[in-house]
Amino acid sequence: MVARNQNMVAITWGASVKFSNVQFFVSLLLAVFLVTAVYIAREYVTFNMIPVALDVTFSSSVHESDQCNLFSGKWVFDNTSYPLYKEKECKFMSDQLACNKFGRQDLSYQYWRWQPHHCDLPRFNATRLLEELRNKRMVFVGDSLNRGQWVSMVCLLDSSIHDPNMKLMNNTGSNLIIFKALILINFVGWISDEMKGYNASIEFYWEPLLVESNSDDPVNHRLPERIVRTQSIEKHAKVWTDANILVFNSYLWWKQPHIKVLWGSFKDENGICKEVENLRSYEMALKTWSDWLEIHVDRAKTRLFFISMSPIHEKAEEWGVSSDQNCYSETDLITKEGYTSNETDPNMMRIVENTIDELKTRGVKVEFINITQLSEYRKEGHPSIYRKQWGALSEEQLSNPSSYSDCIHWCLPGVPDVWNELLYAYIFQ
Ligand SMILES: *[C@@H]1O[C@H](CO)[C@@H](O)[C@H](O)[C@H]1NC(C)=O
Ligand SMILES: *[C@@H]1O[C@H](CO)[C@@H](O)[C@H](O)[C@H]1NC(C)=O
Ligand SMILES: *[C@@H]1O[C@H](CO)[C@@H](O)[C@H](O)[C@H]1NC(C)=O
Ligand SMILES: *[C@@H]1O[C@H](CO)[C@@H](O)[C@H](O)[C@H]1NC(C)=O
Ligand SMILES: *[C@@H]1O[C@H](CO)[C@@H](O)[C@H](O)[C@H]1NC(C)=O
Ligand SMILES: *[C@@H]1O[C@H](CO)[C@@H](O)[C@H](O)[C@H]1NC(C)=O
Repeated sequence: MVARNQNMVAITWGASVKFSNVQFFVSLLLAVFLVTAVYIAREYVTFNMIPVALDVTFSSSVHESDQCNLFSGKWVFDNTSYPLYKEKECKFMSDQLACNKFGRQDLSYQYWRWQPHHCDLPRFNATRLLEELRNKRMVFVGDSLNRGQWVSMVCLLDSSIHDPNMKLMNNTGSNLIIFKALILINFVGWISDEMKGYNASIEFYWEPLLVESNSDDPVNHRLPERIVRTQSIEKHAKVWTDANILVFNSYLWWKQPHIKVLWGSFKDENGICKEVENLRSYEMALKTWSDWLEIHVDRAKTRLFFISMSPIHEKAEEWGVSSDQNCYSETDLITKEGYTSNETDPNMMRIVENTIDELKTRGVKVEFINITQLSEYRKEGHPSIYRKQWGALSEEQLSNPSSYSDCIHWCLPGVPDVWNELLYAYIFQ
């Protein structure tokens, strides 16, 4: 082993703050039409930098071919290769997603591998991805589902950065949260690349409707009505436009029959506000988003990905269980091939596809990561009651756990790790 020189300094990207003191709050609201459940999450994450050692054994290694559809396949129980990291060992884990920590005893949700029908997923190699991201920025832009995928990505990468001084989490206090794999400067003598560090930035940007809305505050977005400025994106987009990899999502926040669309600014009293049918407003927002990408993104530098709709499991009758139940207490997968909840809106998926196709004709490529079908099978993958509760629960709620179950987000380790394996496969395609 090479002794590290005293002079080495980790670049801390700005003001030096002791990692162990860095704490941050994130909160979330997700209101879903037909569901009426409102989840307010306030995350409190502390960073006690304990080095992580992770034993992971992998099985598959076959490369995909261009013809192979990675999204068509089945789940295979695999408790030797999975989970890809351990919940307790990822110190950046979110209390919203740490199901075991909050009492879930059945851990089978951690042990499923996605097996495409005609090929294998490449195995996730965190070192390889960090090397790819060296001196680069990858930004996840979207809602809490996308944030869950970002947390998963951070945990996947974190496990291969062994030195706690070489990574940093920075909640900037705005819509942006940054995980950085740091680099060393001022060192003398030979040192391995891993010890030198990566200078890679893996970020999440809160922007649930992709365009400006009254729900843009990362903490306080619990509002009686949703108002969206479908024409305006620059306030947010200027923060992420220059990233090397952009991973977008936006879906659930649009799932209500109508959305108020505002022409004018939130401050301008003469603005015009109108209720617009949700699909139409979604289309308008994606148009603004795609126009921005066409004009502002450097095509030679930036790769673009869009994560498809994340399905919910709010109605157990859809899989043959009594009607007042939901994902609570589920431990098995749905085995019916092609199962799709009727809560999942194929029209919205089509709008995204059309937007992406149209953008392609303008010379901008957005890669579509189709996680919808594979996630439909995973009714047991949600936190249900096993997550941090942000308010006190009433007697009535406690006596009926389904009533406060979160059947929207996903436990980690779990389903979003597989979304990241798919993203990984595309990045190296
Ligand atoms: C966190 O990010 C903010 C905004 O980019 C920056 O001003 C601050 O210096 C950063 N803090 C650390 C510890 O890097
Ligand atoms: C997503 O993947 C599933 C499974 O392969 C497929 O049935 C569906 O048509 C795909 N959807 C889109 C919009 O590509
Ligand atoms: C994996 O699952 C099998 C079948 O449930 C069980 O017998 C075995 O002990 C498990 N192995 C590990 C490492 O958990
Ligand atoms: C992971 O990637 C790194 C860098 O490309 C490579 O050196 C290493 O052998 C890979 N690990 C495995 C297990 O394939
Ligand atoms: C670190 O990466 C950023 C891009 O994210 C780049 O601007 C900067 O020059 C890099 N720093 C070093 C020391 O290479
Ligand atoms: C969805 O499916 C359930 C149960 O199968 C059914 O009762 C309900 O009417 C369906 N909803 C829609 C919007 O089709």
